[in-house]
Amino acid sequence: MSTGVNIARPARLGILISGRGSNMVALADAVHEARIPNAEISVVVSDQANAPGLAKAKERGIETLVIERRGRTREEHDREIVGALKARNIDLICLAGYMRILSRAFIDAYPGRILNIHPSLLPSFPGLDAQKQALEHGVKWTGCTVHFVDETLDGGPIILQRVVPVLGDDTPDTLAARVHEQENEAYPEAIRLFAEGRLKTEGRRVRISPSPGTPRVPAKREVEGSG
Ligand code: GRF
Repeated sequence: MSTGVNIARPARLGILISGRGSNMVALADAVHEARIPNAEISVVVSDQANAPGLAKAKERGIETLVIERRGRTREEHDREIVGALKARNIDLICLAGYMRILSRAFIDAYPGRILNIHPSLLPSFPGLDAQKQALEHGVKWTGCTVHFVDETLDGGPIILQRVVPVLGDDTPDTLAARVHEQENEAYPEAIRLFAEGRLKTEGRRVRISPSPGTPRVPAKREVEGSG
């Protein structure tokens, strides 16, 4: 399946948050500084009225919406969010600390157009408390993963990963802080690739095509096979 947007206008991003919103801020800064040149952030949606990220989005002049669950089913809640995103012609949805699992209907409404960032090297340590899981398991390296969202928990095709060493005196908080630095770089990079139409999903593998200006180096077998 090919993914990415090939449209004349900038890709319109909708970011879903539940909390602090540091990844949302990293994306907003990357768009503002033209590190994601062909994208704009159209709306930030939170399912929590008191999410600190909402004020950070407003400070940056981004429209914010609070869509709480209020005792509704996941499907009903998701339907309202999808309606708000469709009304704004959103091309790509970025989950950034959004603490709910999306319903099938939500995922089907945006096939290949929902990304998530997770603070571990997936498929290790999905779900909550990824850094605590990594420390308890005793791994020497962890990191973060940007991936497409499917119906599994943190299980969709992987776009990018960044690696972080686990230090002897790390606590979940110190490790999370170093992983966060990498998250704040990896997520904008993945979105730039998406917005440039350079991601292609084949089964579980996401191929990244070279940027248009990159000279093509022939594969070794092509060189050997010539002449
Ligand atoms: C990040 O660690 C992200 O990987 C995970 O939730 C956390 C959100 O942090 N999905 P923030 O709200 O972006 O600061």
